[in-house]
This record gives sequence, C-alpha cells and structure tokens, in this order.
Amino acid sequence: MVDKDTVRRSYDDLAETYAAERSEAGRGKDILDHFLRLLPKSASVLDAGCGQGTPVLRQLNASAIAAGLDFSRSQLDLATENAPHASLIQGDMTNLPVQDGMFDAITAYHSLIHIPLEEHQAVINEFVRVLRPNGRLLLAERPDEWSGSNSDWLGTGVEMQWNIAGAEATREQLRNAGLIIVDEWEITETFAGDDEQVVFFSTQLDT
Ligand SMILES: C[S@@+](CC[C@H](N)C(=O)[O-])C[C@H]1O[C@@H](n2cnc3c(N)ncnc32)[C@H](O)[C@@H]1O
Repeated sequence: MVDKDTVRRSYDDLAETYAAERSEAGRGKDILDHFLRLLPKSASVLDAGCGQGTPVLRQLNASAIAAGLDFSRSQLDLATENAPHASLIQGDMTNLPVQDGMFDAITAYHSLIHIPLEEHQAVINEFVRVLRPNGRLLLAERPDEWSGSNSDWLGTGVEMQWNIAGAEATREQLRNAGLIIVDEWEITETFAGDDEQVVFFSTQLDT
C-alpha cells in the first residue's frame, strides 16, 4: 500500500540521485515525438508527475506550451533548471489544481505507479476533466501488476513505494474514463543499470 506523503518526502530526499539515473535516451523519447506530431500547433500540454523535468518536460518545451505538475518541491526545483520555459505547478495528481478543459494533451511518465491503486481511476478521470474535447493522453505504465517498496532505493537509504496496476487494469480504466486507445507499445527501458518493461498508451477523448 502506497502512502503518498512517504512518496513525496522520498522524492524530496532523493531527487538528485533519481535525476542522475534517469536516461535521456531510449524509445520513450521517440514515442513522445510521435505523440507530439498528433497535436495541434502550439498545443498546451501538461506533464503530470514531471519530476526533474527530463527528458519529458524539456522535450515538450520544444514544440508545445508546456506545464509540469509534481508534488515534490525538490523535483520541481530541478525542473526549473532543466525546463526553464515550462510553467510549474506543485500539486497532487489525484486532485489537479487546474480548471476544466485547460489542456490539449497530458503526458504522464512513470508517475501513476506511485499512486494508491484505489485512486488510479480517479487520477485518469482527473486527466479527462482538464482535457479539451478530443484531447489526448500519453501514459507510461508497466505490463504487470505489482505493489511493493524498497527501503534503500538507489542506495540512498530512502524508502520508495509503488502500486503498479498493470496494463490490463489500466486499459480498462482508460476506457472507463472515455478515452480511446489509439496506439500501444511495450518497450524495454534501462534505469539504474536494470532493464524494465514499460507499456505506453496513446489515447484520445471520445468527444
Ligand atoms: C518516477 S518519477 C518520474 C519523473 C518523470 N516523469 C520521469 O519520467 O522521469 C515519479 C514522479 O511522480 C511524482 N509523483 C508521484 N505521485 C504523485 C502525486 N500523487 N502527485 C504529483 N506527483 C506525484 C513524484 O514526485 C516523482 O517526481
């Protein structure tokens, strides 16, 4: 079971270490390029759980009006340096401090996996609330359900917790929220020297 305060405090404590391990390379970048090409010119895009602002928020800045949201102050401080043109918002993905229908698109890379399982549907519903009609969401998830914690993540002595719903449950939650899955990719990414499987969902609102 994830405790959100623990996750937030942990990212505050290990933001620099996480950023040093987060690769700028890999197919996640190509998938984001593909997604951005589907958007209108000067699209407004929210990166939810933007973390340190690399690689996603920085890449968004090149072709969109970008905003990043995260609940960790230390992560946002790094994002200020790494993506200086983005607007940054401190807030919780389960209750976005954003008006309805504000964004053409949302990206969420490796952030839903830290939210309590029973709140995943609420987060996806929040994404839909702040999207414009026909808005798009690009979401990174893991293929298999897994929940657990690591008391010494990345050798920092700091605990991290995950609640991964897996691809099947996430597919269902996206559809429940009124999103059509336009594309889906399963790729291997390298993080901190380990390979991990990631599923990307490219989706669009039905209306
Ligand atoms: C694994 S990092 C991913 C950062 C970045 N998106 C990336 O691709 O490297 C997860 C990020 O999600 C943020 N996060 C986790 N739960 C959150 C929540 N409930 N609300 C806002 N941010 C959250 C964490 O603070 C952290 O910065």
